[in-house]
Amino acid sequence: MAPPACPGAPDAPASETPDRAPVLRAGSTLRQQRALVTGANSGIGRAVALELARAGCDVVINYISDEPAAQSLVDQIAGLGRRAIAIKADVSQEDQVISMFARAAETLGPLHIVVSNAGLQRDAPFEQMSLADWNTVLSVNLTGQFLCLREDVRAFTRRGVNPAISAAAGKIICMSSVHQEIPWAGHANYAASKGGVAMLMRSLAQEMAPRRIRVNAIAPGAIRTPINTSAWETPEAYDDLMRLVPYKRIGEPADIGRAAVWLASDAADYVTGATLYVDGGMTLYPGFATGG
Ligand code: BGC
Repeated sequence: MAPPACPGAPDAPASETPDRAPVLRAGSTLRQQRALVTGANSGIGRAVALELARAGCDVVINYISDEPAAQSLVDQIAGLGRRAIAIKADVSQEDQVISMFARAAETLGPLHIVVSNAGLQRDAPFEQMSLADWNTVLSVNLTGQFLCLREDVRAFTRRGVNPAISAAAGKIICMSSVHQEIPWAGHANYAASKGGVAMLMRSLAQEMAPRRIRVNAIAPGAIRTPINTSAWETPEAYDDLMRLVPYKRIGEPADIGRAAVWLASDAADYVTGATLYVDGGMTLYPGFATGG
């Protein structure tokens, strides 16, 4: 039996590095684990935080705007019997990221899971794209991931593996997009940032595997969130969108939250450096179903 959770206390130091697949424990998949999710006050981040809490995690909710939404998520997670705190920080600012991770560890205890999710779009035809549009997207979507991932690996490395909690020293999930793969006219800054996330994730996975830190990505397709309202809010837009989705439904934020729970769990212990596409088949070149 695993020892009872001890709020705020560090995990026991690693005894040995197991060389077999972990035996999965019954009950909540992520029992006794602590997660931080960036950009968790809405959309995909919010659903990821909720699903992690349902799977047994205490959760740090990072946000940059809409504090009431972040606070209501904290309350909702408390209602599930898990601890949660909301921390305001701009992921593109080094000092804010460093102090967020320090505060998270002081308040809830060392983290086991980080979902680097914060991201935004500033769309424009290429010749009209301003340097500010370019820099904002790259700063949040790519530099923001770098800054958060660097704090994760520092903390996970300090702690090492505690097999009573998880077979890995830490689990990192980068929120990418189908546009790490699918070119996207009018969104060059966004697609470039997600292409960057793909190689950041894989390079870090290679570097961290010997330390038993697993680094993976989720690449969502069209998910019903505020970032892409115009793609689904009218029946015409929805029909248009469905031409790009072989599975013929829009994704829901919970589809991504559930994928995150699996990737973070020991059920995925041998998975590192992978991108899990959760896209209803959007990356399957749907135009070729009838052509080519
Ligand atoms: C974008 C959405 C878009 C989806 C599919 C996501 O990464 O943020 O705006 O609907 O990709 O194109």
